[in-house]
Amino acid sequence: MRPPDSLPPMSTPLRVLCLPGSLRAASLNLALARAAVEVAPEDAEVTLHTLADVPLYDGDVEASGLPAGVTALRDAVAGSDALLICAPEYNSSIPGVLKNAIDWLSRPPRPTPLDGLPVALAGASPGGFGTIRSQTHLRQVLQFTGTLTLAKPELYVSRASGLFTHGRLTDEATRDRLRELLEALARWTRTVRTTEP
Ligand code: FNR
Repeated sequence: MRPPDSLPPMSTPLRVLCLPGSLRAASLNLALARAAVEVAPEDAEVTLHTLADVPLYDGDVEASGLPAGVTALRDAVAGSDALLICAPEYNSSIPGVLKNAIDWLSRPPRPTPLDGLPVALAGASPGGFGTIRSQTHLRQVLQFTGTLTLAKPELYVSRASGLFTHGRLTDEATRDRLRELLEALARWTRTVRTTEP
């Protein structure tokens, strides 16, 4: 857990960093992340951070100095109050670009940017399961990194292709569910931050 004095002062509105777990321009999950910016409640400001500049983890590279893309990612996460991950499911699990980013974020010095950080999960898939298997694996990975992952609500956006129009989430019910997730993340963040020892 990040000790309270290593956390940035909690801001108003809360700074929520959103990591899209897909790199492609027409990504459903990137579009879901963009929708999070739009539907964020008044007390939360969502900004996106692409993982496109994060190279594959390599201990030799790490030992010779962090790549700029990794430093930028670590700084962005460290400077946020909470995280929202919008990621697809690949082969019933976490996409490699996201797992790779988490691996970089989990590295010393400690506390890492993930220690004690409130996190909410969301994911979109053209299929019927809406990334449930990917998110289940992600929860397990995040547990090891010390994040405080929000339990409920869960947001699995299934049959997603029909919910977006020209890259914008137009399905009102899904927009409402996304807003509810962000509201719960904001409440969760303020709860855990004020109950720290
Ligand atoms: C997929 N896809 C997929 N979908 C799913 O619901 N469960 C799965 O296990 C998989 N597996 C999978 C593996 C690989 C390698 C690819 C490329 C794709 C389909 C996937 O959900 C679909 O391509 C999404 O559109 C990817 O997310 P973005 O890029 O649209 O955000």
